[in-house]
Amino acid sequence: MTGAAQPARGLHRPVVLMGPPGAGKGTQAKKLAARYQVPHLSTGDMFRHHVGRGTELGRRAKQIMDRGELVPDDVVVAMVEQRIAEPDCAQGFILDGFPRTVAQAESLDALLRRAGLPEPWVLVLRVDSGLLLRRLTGRRMCKIGGEIYNVYDRPVAAADRCLQHECELVQRADDREEVIRERLAAYQVHTQPVIEFYRGRNLLAELDGSGAPEAVSQALFDWIDRNEDRGR
Ligand code: AP5
Repeated sequence: MTGAAQPARGLHRPVVLMGPPGAGKGTQAKKLAARYQVPHLSTGDMFRHHVGRGTELGRRAKQIMDRGELVPDDVVVAMVEQRIAEPDCAQGFILDGFPRTVAQAESLDALLRRAGLPEPWVLVLRVDSGLLLRRLTGRRMCKIGGEIYNVYDRPVAAADRCLQHECELVQRADDREEVIRERLAAYQVHTQPVIEFYRGRNLLAELDGSGAPEAVSQALFDWIDRNEDRGR
């Protein structure tokens, strides 16, 4: 199936989108959410939302995020469980940035079981570390709607303003090179084992995330459509 044909609303299974910082999870999760008309659940965005509102959780999370470390599992799992219980998640959802530890993956299994939902598709974007560093140091975000840009992409770099909201673009506090290195290290130690946790289930695919955004989207759409058609 090509990207031109629109699939029916919803997904048979939730989708977990994985990959190292800068692999393009946020960029692609937004496209998947639009195509399948399901919510995009980004734990990073949820924490940034709390930081922006100055909540107690936001204050705690900010200190951890600014160091490039992971927020404790129980805090993340409680936040995700609450979000998944909302009615708009009944037709499926795209998880971006969760689970990030084996303990979180085990908790996700348990909370999907409790909600009567099936095990997720797990899609991993592979990108080499040199390219990740370039993407992350070049990333800029809309401070109103969270749209993602990159200074290496024209014409955004020239204008340096959000194309949607016409506001100034900002750099994430954790996109400084020394913090990026910590985040990449945390991914190796804590998140790489999550891929092994899922590998045996025959619901996982590893895809090349280094091509143009449209090519990566197409590969994701094709994989999901093919597997959803099999009705698993
Ligand atoms: P989070 O926000 O999830 O950050 P991350 O996983 O490090 O991922 P990023 O958002 O940096 O990258 P991305 O893969 O989404 O790439 P993007 O699409 O933006 O988490 C932040 C922090 O929150 C964590 O460090 C942790 O502290 C905490 N946290 C979150 N979840 C947690 C959890 N479950 N447990 C514990 N702690 C948690 O793209 C990057 C750039 O590349 C952009 O500029 C984009 O325009 C560009 N780009 C994307 N795709 C392409 C392409 N194909 N070609 C060219 N450029 C591209």
